[in-house]
This record gives sequence, C-alpha cells and structure tokens, in this order.
Amino acid sequence: MCLCRRVLLIFLLTTGFYEFLKAEDAIHQSGLKMHIHRPRKHRAAGSTDGDLRFEPAPYNKKLELNGVGKIHCKVAGGVAPTVQWFMNDEEPLPEGVSSANGTLLIAEAKREHAGLYTCKATDGDKSITAKITLDIVEWFLFVQLPPRVLEPTAGQQVHVRIGDDVFLNCKAIGDPPPTIHWDRNRTILTSQSDEVDTEDGTNASSARILLLNNGSLQIRNVSEQDSYRYGCTAGSAAGLSRAELELIVHPESDLLPSESSGVAGKAVLVSISVAGAYMLLVLALMVYCRRRRLKRRQRAGEKEELEMAEGREKLVEEGEEKKVQNGAPLHNGRLLHERDSGADNSEVSVMSRASKKSGQYEQLSIPKSLLTEQITLGRGEFGDVYLAKLDLLQVKKLRNKDESDTEAKVKPVLVKALTTKDENQLAEFRRQLDLFSRVRHENISRLFGLCNESDPHYMVLEHTDWGDLKTFLIATRTDEENEEYIARVGSSHALPKPQHSVPPLEHLHKVVLAGQLATAANKIASKRMTHRDIAARNCLITSQLQLKLSFPALTRGPHSHEYFKLHDQVIPLRWLPQESVLEGDYSTKSDVYMFAAAIWEIYTKAEQPFAKLNDNSVLERLKNDTLEWNVPGSMPDKLAALLKRCWTKSPTDRPQFTAVCEEISTLIQEISAETVSQHSKDKSDLNE
Ligand SMILES: *[C@@H]1O[C@H](CO)[C@@H](O)[C@H](O)[C@H]1NC(C)=O
Ligand SMILES: *[C@@H]1O[C@H](CO)[C@@H](O)[C@H](O)[C@H]1NC(C)=O
Ligand SMILES: *[C@@H]1O[C@H](CO)[C@@H](O)[C@H](O)[C@H]1NC(C)=O
Ligand SMILES: *[C@@H]1O[C@H](CO)[C@@H](O)[C@H](O)[C@H]1NC(C)=O
Ligand SMILES: *[C@@H]1O[C@H](CO)[C@@H](O)[C@H](O)[C@H]1NC(C)=O
Repeated sequence: MCLCRRVLLIFLLTTGFYEFLKAEDAIHQSGLKMHIHRPRKHRAAGSTDGDLRFEPAPYNKKLELNGVGKIHCKVAGGVAPTVQWFMNDEEPLPEGVSSANGTLLIAEAKREHAGLYTCKATDGDKSITAKITLDIVEWFLFVQLPPRVLEPTAGQQVHVRIGDDVFLNCKAIGDPPPTIHWDRNRTILTSQSDEVDTEDGTNASSARILLLNNGSLQIRNVSEQDSYRYGCTAGSAAGLSRAELELIVHPESDLLPSESSGVAGKAVLVSISVAGAYMLLVLALMVYCRRRRLKRRQRAGEKEELEMAEGREKLVEEGEEKKVQNGAPLHNGRLLHERDSGADNSEVSVMSRASKKSGQYEQLSIPKSLLTEQITLGRGEFGDVYLAKLDLLQVKKLRNKDESDTEAKVKPVLVKALTTKDENQLAEFRRQLDLFSRVRHENISRLFGLCNESDPHYMVLEHTDWGDLKTFLIATRTDEENEEYIARVGSSHALPKPQHSVPPLEHLHKVVLAGQLATAANKIASKRMTHRDIAARNCLITSQLQLKLSFPALTRGPHSHEYFKLHDQVIPLRWLPQESVLEGDYSTKSDVYMFAAAIWEIYTKAEQPFAKLNDNSVLERLKNDTLEWNVPGSMPDKLAALLKRCWTKSPTDRPQFTAVCEEISTLIQEISAETVSQHSKDKSDLNE
C-alpha cells in the first residue's frame, strides 16, 4: 500500500501542469490529450451540417522530451473533409511525427520536433487551417529519487545517561535532497515547541533541544522525560519517508549497554506517505491562526507592527532572506508603505501610473532574459500566460542582495503577459500586481517580479511543482467517479482525465487545504484587498500538498468554459455571488462567497458548479434568487454549515474570513486528534 502510494507520488510529481501528464509507462502515454473543454454538440466529420470548421480548434501543446503525445484536430461541417497535419505551413512532418485521421502523433518527442504545426482540413475546393505551437520541455528531469531514511534503522534504540547530551542522527538520501523533520511521540518538533530551537535560531544557545542543519537532533542535559520514540521524516518534492528510534534514558550511575541497531531482516521502515506532511501543515496553520487571533486583539496602531514582524518571520521561514535583521528596512515592506500613500483605487493605467510614480515598480523589475524554457499555457484576460523557469539567485544579485550563495535556484514561474491596450484590463493588471506585491503569505503565490523594460510587460508569479489544484482534483477521481459524474451532468463536462489516478485526498487533508485557502484569503482581506477570482483553477498545489492562491485566470484558454462574458466583462459566473454579477460589486464578502465555492470544488473533486445548468440559466437563477448550492455528503457537517453561511445572499450576513479561519482551525484540531489516535491505534495493531 505504502509502496504503491510512493509510486503514485513519484508519478504525480511528473504531472506538474494542468494538461500535462506523464505516465510512468511510456507506452501508455497517450494520456497526453488536448485539454479541450466544452465540446459543443458533437458532429461527426462527414455530415453535411454547415461550413467547414474546427470543433474545437487545436491548442498549443507542450511535451516532455522523449515523451509520447497526440494532438487532435477535429473538424466539423462539409462533406467528408480530409484532415492533415503539416510542419510550419505546408512542409512534411519531421521524422518520428505522423498524422492519422486528423491526430498528430509523436512517438518519442525530440527537441527538433518543437515548432509550428498546421492542421489543414480540405473539403473539395474549400480548406481551413489552424496553427499550433508544440514545445518540447525537459521540465521534470530534476526530480527523480524519492527520499529514503538510512538512519535511524528500524527498531534502533539509543541509550543515554541522565544529564548527558545526545545526538540523534537522521541520514536520508534522495533527489532533490530531502529536508528532515523530527517528531517526538508523533508531535512534530519545531522551534515553536517548548525548549526546542533550530541551529540558527535566536535561542539556539539556551534551547535544550536543537534541530541541527545536518539533520541531527541534539538533546542537551537529558532527563528521564526525554525517553520517547523519536521519528525522523525526510521529505522532498519526490515524496516522504519516516523512520523511528527509541531513546532509552538510564540513571547517571548506569553503564550504558552497547547501541542496538535495528534488526536488518525486520526493517520495517514506516513510510508514512503524507501523514507527516499533514502534521506539519496542521501545525503551521494553527500557529498562523493563533497569531491572527492575537492580532485582532491589538489596537489599530500596533497592528501594522505585528504585520511587519509577521512578514519578517515569513521571510526568515522561507529561508531565502535570512539576512534581514530586526529593524532593517524590509524590501517589500518599504514598497508597501510608499505605495500605501498613493490613491489606491484610481483607475489609471499601469503605464501612466508607473511613469507618474517612477520607481514604483523599479524594485520589482527583472529582465526578460532571466526567464528560460518559456512554454505557453493558454490565454488569460490580458494576453498569453506562460510557464517558465527563473533563477532566483540572479534576481537577488540584481537587487543587490548580499548573497553568499552561488548555487542557482531555478524555480518554475507563471508569466502573465500584458498585451491588451484596454484601459480596464490595464487597471486589472495593476490591481493584480498590487495584490501580489503587497500580500505575502506562504499560501499565496509570490510575485517574483515584473518584466517592464519592453512590451509586452510580464507579471512573474511563483508556480508550483504540481501545478493547479483543479487538475490535481480531477486526477484524484476514480474512473467510476468520473463516469458517474458524466452520467449525472452530461458528457459536455467530460474533461480529459489522466489515465493514472492519484490517491484521493484524505479527510483531514481536505480540511487542511480549506484552512490554507482561508488563511490566504484572510491575509488578503486584512490588507483591505480583494482577489475576485478564488477558484480551484486559480489555486496551485505543491508536491507537499500545500495550497497556494494564485491567479492564472485562463479565461480564454482551457478554462474558458468557467467564464462568461457579461456586458464586455469576462466573469467567473458560477463562482460569483449575485451582487458581483448583477452590480459589479466586489468586496471581501464576495471573496468569502467564492472561497466557499472553491472549498466545494475540493470536496466534489472539481465538479463544475451547477453543471446541469447552462450559463444563461445560472444567470437567470442568480437574478431571481433561486440558485442553490448543494454540498456533497462527504463534507463534515460543520464545514457544510459554514459554507452555507458564506453563500448567504446578503453580503453582511456572510462571515468574516477571521471567523472562517478560526472555525476551520478548530475543525482541523478535532479531526487531527481523531486521526492521530487512529494512527497510534494502527501502529499498536502493527506491533502486536
Ligand atoms: C481512421 O478512422 C476510421 C473510421 O473512424 C478507421 O476505420 C481507420 O482505421 C482510422 N485510421 C487510422 C489510421 O487510425
Ligand atoms: C551533525 O553534527 C553533529 C555535531 O555538529 C554531529 O555530532 C552529528 O554526527 C552530525 N550528524 C550527521 C548525520 O552527520
Ligand atoms: C504521547 O501521545 C499520546 C497520544 O498521541 C498521548 O496519549 C500521550 O500522553 C503522549 N505521551 C506523553 C508523555 O506526552
Ligand atoms: C527565546 O527565549 C526567550 C526567553 O527564554 C523567550 O522570551 C523568547 O520567546 C524565545 N524566542 C523564541 C523565538 O523562541
Ligand atoms: C540539567 O537539568 C537539571 C534538571 O533536569 C537541572 O537541575 C540542571 O541544572 C541542568 N544542568 C545543566 C548543566 O543545565
């Protein structure tokens, strides 16, 4: 079971992006289907209904090097049209690429296969063409080896005398190198725990228990109360692995027995898959919520200070800006304050505003040359949306950060190009820039920068190794669930489902994700800002199953069926409350409503809200107040009740995010208490 899950985790890693799924088995990689949504009424090519047309038009595609891929080109209308693929305009296909019945087949993707392809449909003397770009990427090759804990070995005991110091070692291998977390009696040890600090922590010299950088745990002046089982979890993007040892404390006068290491034959490594990650996430969330509660009690003046401190902590936590000292001007904080003095909501374009307040985005500026391996993801409201890689070290050097590190830190990023000249959209681009530059939180995509030295400008946001939450949720459906869904709502919702499913999210984890989204949204609300498009498609998920709220908003790409054009505006109709749709009124309370819709998506494995209704019926029901959300039975009652309140018609009756955050945090504690006791029960069953 564990092994199976590990295999799936490795597989999952390679999935990365919403339409890209690499199967472990190359032969079955025909799962690389185009993401084409909302196929209208299906008509077989050859019938005589209307003009020749693409239904739907083929999309751009990215393929992993050496991977297998298919690109469909479906044509409707005309009389028995022939469909053919060409390289560039009309050149023959390169070797290794073939075309059959309108489908372009790539048996093994090579670099030279990248380029422009044309699908040409001919019917008598009429012909139509569609062009797509095929990208070949080497994207995922850096993640290979899931972590494995070599030490402690199973059943290992460590003996120590009262008053002595002891080092508990944890050695793990993996690629990328895993990070180590220790737990005692199944409670994760962090610098927030009593007596515990990290090697670089402020209290390192006085802390009795130290988490060392090399992965070892040091316990000073051991007392009898330290005799516990200690677990070491090694985690990386490639998975998690955990092993335990037992610390046996002897009276001062005792002679220590020789160390007994685990019996190799019985080496049962407890691979806890995601359970360890749960604990970490739960912990992080509880700390955050507690801090927020604390904060609410502060007076307005103190509030900002705490926020800054929080921001500073976050920076340190991220381990990237360790050089920030207490009191030193915070790069982002400064940006924030300069900006705050400006009239915030004036509807001026980015350009004119930027020139008026020169230097406003200077701090964020990065050259386009730092973006590599750019691949097209789709189209958003302002223009194309890409994925790319960015070397953060270069960015840091550019900003004159004192950085002794010389190792390249290449991260996947989401790039939103600004190609539109529409004033409203320029304002929206600026709004999103403001949002991501002012709100920093571990559950919100970071704004890495802005490429503004030449047109089009690029907004560069953090992306994750596993890509968007919606694709992930769909991948967690079983074949039966997928079929049941399609049978229930109709085949127009049949999304291409990856061939290999991912294990479903566990009970606790769904609530943890809900909590993370709540804290992210709460953070935005606390800055008096709004997101306006909270939905699973705009959330990312990391391989550690951590959620990050982002903003790809592929309104004209593969998610276009989730948007609706109303009075020149493209809106996520099914996610929005009445006041936003009908009056264009967006507020924190409309974010609360959307938040609830996104949680609903997590529990329904990314069903389309009101899937049975077409856009106009949804609009109609919003108008006459008859739109009813139904929560799935798998949702905890308390959460269901909370969501119902979030969907109240009157914005003032919807709860605040602070309350939402606290309620979910309580729920998490309840569920994790159950889970932990379940875990230890399982374990004692195992030991018997
Ligand atoms: C093309 O489609 C037809 C009918 O759908 C089928 O008979 C034929 O075998 C297909 N050809 C290829 C090469 O797949
Ligand atoms: C980590 O460092 C401590 C002392 O600094 C040492 O005793 C311990 O063996 C080291 N652990 C590993 C795994 O090398
Ligand atoms: C260890 O954890 C279990 C449940 O997780 C708890 O009942 C027990 O009291 C804990 N032991 C100590 C010494 O804290
Ligand atoms: C460090 O120790 C002092 C006093 O023991 C305590 O007040 C402070 O909160 C500790 N700091 C951290 C980060 O744990
Ligand atoms: C070790 O811990 C004991 C109590 O458990 C305390 O009395 C003693 O002073 C400590 N020794 C040192 C060197 O900190």
